[in-house]
Amino acid sequence: ALIRRYKFVLTDTPYTRLCTNKSILVVNGQFPGPTLYATEGDTLVVDVQNRASENVTIHWHGVNQPRYPWSDGPVYITQCPIQPGSKFSQKIFLSDEIGTLWWHAHSDWSRATVHGAIVIYPKKKNNYPFRKPHAEVPIILGEWWKSDIQAVLTEFLDNGGDPNVSDAFLINGQPGDFYPCSRSDTFKLTVEYGKTYLIRMVNAVMNNIMFFSIANHSVTVVGSDASYTKQIRSDYIAISPGQTIDFLLKANQRPSHYYMAAHAYASAASYDNTTTTAIIEYRGNYTPPSSPLLPRLPTFNDTNASVNFTGRLRSLGNKDYPVDVPKNVTNTFLFTLSINLTPCPNDSCVGPFNERLLASMNNITFVQPTISILQAYYQRIRNVYGDDFPSYPPFAFNYTADNIPRALWRPQNGTKIRVLKYNSSVEIVFQGTNTVGGIDHPMHLHGHSFYVVGWGFGNFDKDNDPSTYNLVDPPLMNTIAVPINGWTTIRFQAKNPGVWLLHCHIDRHLSWGMDMTFITKNGKGKDARMLPPPPDMPPC
Ligand code: C2O
Ligand code: CU
Repeated sequence: ALIRRYKFVLTDTPYTRLCTNKSILVVNGQFPGPTLYATEGDTLVVDVQNRASENVTIHWHGVNQPRYPWSDGPVYITQCPIQPGSKFSQKIFLSDEIGTLWWHAHSDWSRATVHGAIVIYPKKKNNYPFRKPHAEVPIILGEWWKSDIQAVLTEFLDNGGDPNVSDAFLINGQPGDFYPCSRSDTFKLTVEYGKTYLIRMVNAVMNNIMFFSIANHSVTVVGSDASYTKQIRSDYIAISPGQTIDFLLKANQRPSHYYMAAHAYASAASYDNTTTTAIIEYRGNYTPPSSPLLPRLPTFNDTNASVNFTGRLRSLGNKDYPVDVPKNVTNTFLFTLSINLTPCPNDSCVGPFNERLLASMNNITFVQPTISILQAYYQRIRNVYGDDFPSYPPFAFNYTADNIPRALWRPQNGTKIRVLKYNSSVEIVFQGTNTVGGIDHPMHLHGHSFYVVGWGFGNFDKDNDPSTYNLVDPPLMNTIAVPINGWTTIRFQAKNPGVWLLHCHIDRHLSWGMDMTFITKNGKGKDARMLPPPPDMPPC
């Protein structure tokens, strides 16, 4: 395994999209940011330098960082921000991640413009569990707001309502042909007839699960979240914010131009009903059509298209890529995921019933501390967090019923963590609720990949649903969309000592408090202990 060095310089840089110019926070002047390349098991050292005007942290999404939470990045969970004019050298320890991951800012809403792909090759070159592709292409789905992104954040947190939806979705930083002033910069992928391409797709969108498809072409999914999957043929992709999907595209249609397109899936309010496009151009001598063929995308409210796609993902589960799902679990949790309301402090809230929107897990709305939980844990600083995050909701009700009385579910504020014993096996049932309305929640765990062993609609039934669990070839993920008014069960082994955030990857839900933190204690023996902090941890 190698050590690879990269340099990230954060600057405020002017960018023009949708006919207007604004300054955005970017890495190395690039939007989307640079792709990091590595081989399985490598260590990346990224020297992050903040030359911009705002605080920032960087997270390596899906990298498990064995025993080293110090570089993980979520603000006030594992570190304080890298302040303007400061540096932080971050170490990214890859272990068995293979395929595609990504990195992004993990403070405020900076990840809207601060993100990029991480490509992790197999140890033996081209040793893929599928035919070697002719070329590999990252495709990052993103979003663009004409207004300043932190202003969007401040505004909705102030007024208690939903955030303004973005002005465009993007494919590799470009809105595409159907948006004003965008046509000439549309992302184009040139292909050769008969060749196969590996597309490494990242959903870097802030608030939406996305649908993506390509005119006339179906695709073959081969991986997700840096883990191989059984091959799945599909006419479209459904991808959660935070998730990555690797798929093969065979250029097997009549040489021409074809559109690829993406738009939001949303089962509740607040989606942007616009479509971003890019173009596949075959090489060759032909007259291109004046307007290429457009693909069919599942409609905005097609819940089945979203959950069925995700529900088809399976681990390879063969002798080269075995499945290691915990069979006997020592810790079981049921975490409710709720959108909530709280009375308005000043009579000017624009949320439902003129109240403020917020979110919770097990009735606790997470409140960020002012020094990092990791620092408090390591230095035994008291009164930063409580260790009593509940294992179960405080009381049971019909979580997914219509018209849940709104007084029933007023969450409490808290900075609460849950302690896990080293090497305990953990099962979490995520239960969606229909409090202020149901919505899908893509849940993301730091420091671990987990097996998704089951899911369903309605209330989780502890007597019957566990018998439906897939313990044979469940997919190994780091982000999984819990279906609207439904449940999802994950399992993992807590063998990574450290401080690890668990949260919804829809950023407005995260900003409303849909997060909690696990602390995995040290085990016996030096390989079971957290490593010491680096000398240049950003000060709190
Ligand atoms: Cu993609 Cu907490 O992160
Ligand atoms: Cu959510």
